[in-house]
Amino acid sequence: NSVFQGRSLLAEKDFTKSELEYLIDFSLHLKDLKKKGIPHHYLEGKNIALLFEKNSTRTRAAFTTAAIDLGAHPEFLGKNDIQLGKKESVEDTAKVLGSMFDGIEFRGFSQKVVEDLAKYSGVPVWNGLTDEWHPTQMIADFMTVKENFGKLKGVTLTYVGDGRNNMANSLLVTGSMLGVNIHIVAPDSLQPTQEVRDLAEGYAKETGSKNMITSDVDAGVKGSDVLYTDVWVSMGEEDKFEERVNLLKPYQINMDMVKKTGNENMIIMHCLPAFHDIETEYGKKIDEQFGIQEMEITDEAFRSKYARQFEEAENRMHSIKAIMAATLGNLFIPQA
Ligand code: CP
Ligand code: NVA
Repeated sequence: NSVFQGRSLLAEKDFTKSELEYLIDFSLHLKDLKKKGIPHHYLEGKNIALLFEKNSTRTRAAFTTAAIDLGAHPEFLGKNDIQLGKKESVEDTAKVLGSMFDGIEFRGFSQKVVEDLAKYSGVPVWNGLTDEWHPTQMIADFMTVKENFGKLKGVTLTYVGDGRNNMANSLLVTGSMLGVNIHIVAPDSLQPTQEVRDLAEGYAKETGSKNMITSDVDAGVKGSDVLYTDVWVSMGEEDKFEERVNLLKPYQINMDMVKKTGNENMIIMHCLPAFHDIETEYGKKIDEQFGIQEMEITDEAFRSKYARQFEEAENRMHSIKAIMAATLGNLFIPQA
């Protein structure tokens, strides 16, 4: 049996550094198989439940296509389809789903719910984003970093924007586990909590990651290999819109910030969805209400030669495939 079999991915800290590295390399391998048209039905006959309390394009699409490519059957169960946590307890729902499905993806608000699903279902559970963590995104993101720089150790990834959301938490902790230097550039009130910093610092001591948490844009972005950002208002905190725009205006990725890295070989990443396009329905509404055309990233930067967000998005599929195949499949994976 592999060291992965039967395990859940609820947060990055559930795995070791070498296990994360293995998943990244396995993702690259599966991408290669996909590009060459070589079948990889490692999950033939398996059933996968996809639970979504929050909206999704990439995570839902990636889990669906990944499951099908692996020979498994994905079943989408949206928040209006099932009673999870409303008319039925998480425990009961988990027991029922675990008796029918071989693996469960969950996206929602509470980390406790994804943990309880794992506790009571008896099958591997994958966290497709909670308020606290976005671990499946991390495998895709560091896979993208490795594709671009040929290595992880010593690369400097700077996240600018809301430094307290799921993405900032996950990047700080995962980067620290992998020896990537993580800079979090955010206003004081939106910097990572002490708990997340302590967790990251523990890993950084082992791997030598040089992290920086600062509100100073110039100091934070200088020398960066990657500029990374995320929406200023995450799902579920829509009421904070005005406050966030005012706080985060100086932290927008634009061509001026790109220049400040002083690194012509830098890349831009964004987990997406991104707000840079006034032509969307949301964009029009925001423009009318706040007179703002661009938020966390300018359209110019988004479409520049540095941008890698669409490669990153595609990598969600390859990496979710690796996560599901490793934890659910019957592959022999040598102990790292
Ligand atoms: N990056 C990401 O998780 O995208 P979705 O919200 O579209 O799934
Ligand atoms: N921080 C964002 C990430 C979306 C993938 C959110 O939670 O809405």
